[in-house]
Formats: sequence, structure tokens, C-alpha cells
Amino acid sequence: MTSFMPPADRHWWKVPVGKQELIWIAIALVWCIIMFLMMPLWHVYGKQNLSTEAYQTTPAKFGAKVEEMVEKYTVGEEAGIPIVAPPVGSDIYMLGRLWQWYPVLKLKKDQEYRLHLSSMDFQHGFSLQPDNINLQVVPGYDMVLKITPDKSGEYGVICNEYCGIGHHLMVGKIYVED
Ligand code: CUA
Repeated sequence: MTSFMPPADRHWWKVPVGKQELIWIAIALVWCIIMFLMMPLWHVYGKQNLSTEAYQTTPAKFGAKVEEMVEKYTVGEEAGIPIVAPPVGSDIYMLGRLWQWYPVLKLKKDQEYRLHLSSMDFQHGFSLQPDNINLQVVPGYDMVLKITPDKSGEYGVICNEYCGIGHHLMVGKIYVED
């Protein structure tokens, strides 16, 4: 149809929108709305999109907080990384850097903690397995969330933001004890 019009009239706003195109616009719009509604739904039902608080920090400040906790509450070591058992109810820290999660945390089941996460260098992705809880870890920001581990056992923390050649080696650990 458009090819029969003189070039000067071939403007998209003058040509009626094709039926197929309208259908695809409608499908895309409906899908957008579904995805938008998933955000609050996952927060409530999927245990994703957790409520976090974010504060500005610097790698130096955050690193100092982490070291303070490590010095006070280290109970062991695993592959050169301290295992830290901080008091129930306290502020606990984990940092991401090329290419490790530091330190290993040892927590008590059914007790609440305030977990602080930050990065020392680039963006990393905190992914708690096998629970599949995912959070972005960004330098300059202290992300805080209240956690209450409800199952004892060993949890892995993997990085799910590509952060360079050692990305796949960036594996941390959290122990939860009864
Ligand atoms: Cu850190 Cu990928």
C-alpha cells in the first residue's frame, strides 16, 4: 500500500498501523504490565526483591567495619578466609572484591541479623544458594537487609555479575547452625 503513495506522503504517522503490528504492540504492552506486577508480587510471594536499606560508604570505611568484626569474632579459617561467628542480633558484614566474598559467616538459625554488603572495587552480584536470593553489590554503597536464616546448613554465595577473569571463582560461604 505504501509503495503506491508518492514519496512525500510516505510518513509513518499518515499510514494506518498494520493489524499484525497492532497485535504485537498489544502483546508487548500486556507483557510489560505482567512483568511490572511481578516486581511487587515477587517481593511478597517469591521472597525476591527484598527490602533493603542503602547508605553511602567508601571501600575504606566499609573494609574497616568488616575487619573490626573479623578481629572480634573469628572462630576458624577456611581456605585462607576467616570464619566469623558474630553475636546474634548484631550487624554483620560481607564484602565482595576481586575475586572473593569475605569473610565466611557462621550464623544461628532463627535469629535475626542485619547483613551489610558492599564491594571494594567493581559491581558484584550476591547470589545466595540454594535459596536463590540475589542482590547487587556496588562499591560506595552499604546495602543492609534484615535476615533470619530459617534452615540450618551450608549456603554458597556465588557472584552473578560478570566481574572479570576470576568471576567464576568468586564463591563464598555462610554456615547456619541450630
Ligand atoms: Cu564478582 Cu563476578
